[in-house]
Amino acid sequence: MSLIEQAAKRLEQLRQAGVEIPEDIGGDPVPPQVQATAAAPVAPPPAAAALEPAAAVKAVEPASTSRRVELDLSALEASGITSPNSPRSLVADEYRVIKRPLIANAMGKGAAPVANGNLIMVTSALPGEGKSFTAINLAMSIAMELDNTVMLVDADVARPSVLNMLGLPPAKGLLDVLVNDSVDLSQVLLKTNVEKLTLLPSGTQHPRATELLASDAMVRLLDDMANRYSDRIIIFDSPPLLLTTESRVLATHMGQIVMVVQAERTLHAQVKQALSTIEACPVKLMVLNKTSAAAGEGYGYGYGYGYGT
Ligand SMILES: Nc1ncnc2c1ncn2[C@@H]1O[C@H](COP(=O)(O)OP(=O)(O)OP(=O)(O)O)[C@@H](O)[C@H]1O
Ligand SMILES: [Mg+2]
Repeated sequence: MSLIEQAAKRLEQLRQAGVEIPEDIGGDPVPPQVQATAAAPVAPPPAAAALEPAAAVKAVEPASTSRRVELDLSALEASGITSPNSPRSLVADEYRVIKRPLIANAMGKGAAPVANGNLIMVTSALPGEGKSFTAINLAMSIAMELDNTVMLVDADVARPSVLNMLGLPPAKGLLDVLVNDSVDLSQVLLKTNVEKLTLLPSGTQHPRATELLASDAMVRLLDDMANRYSDRIIIFDSPPLLLTTESRVLATHMGQIVMVVQAERTLHAQVKQALSTIEACPVKLMVLNKTSAAAGEGYGYGYGYGYGT
């Protein structure tokens, strides 16, 4: 007697004993959904099949391989970002003026030696003054030098914008390294088609992102970066100084700070207050951004001048 016949016989016995059997069970020995479930084990388990190639890739891929991304240099140029395609543009010329003292200090060729001179933070008093725009342009401009390699770090972890401004999708980065001990910095760096420019994205969003930026783990990471990449200039895009405190903590570990001031918007008192929060940093440079009067060029980039030493 087959299993189905046995089941039918058992049902009949139950019915005769007065047990109520629902019509759909009694009438159809194997309901459709049960058939589907029963068939599942016969098919190859999809999850296991999907896992195999990924595991294989992981096994052969060296842990330190950085991913490579392609920047659309023409599109960047159109949005006002300097690139190797436009080495003689107005923006490129202006950033050339600003980067000189920064590079000299980073390479130990300034008036006096600067500790951690290769760590440069770009910040401002308030949101929207052009920190990210300046950080990207500065990184690009320095990367176009023959001698200097640059790492651009998106340290505005609560409101990251570097990848977006560069036309790139979100990627793992700083927060992943801070949260997960098994993720090494070299695994999340993004190499670009601008040969000397590497990106460190802000990484996977985290509810405690701002605390992580001001954490001991971040301090250790900064030390590691300053030493492991001592031949590199590392530029940090950061949150505004007057609205958050993590930027001030970050500032205490920087060799140089570029303070962006929006022309005709940031108030004198706000600039003074912002500067007072970064007093400890040995070198500060102010950049006046979004000037409208510069050589009749209309709304554009301003000029920089040194502040303090
Ligand atoms: N000199 C400039 N010329 C043209 N556009 C600019 C200039 N500076 C900034 N912008 C534009 O102004 C907007 C705000 O700039 P940006 O995002 O760099 O500011 P931010 O200080 O980083 O802001 P947030 O505090 O929100 O991070 C962006 O769209 C940017 O492209
Ligand atoms: Mg920004």
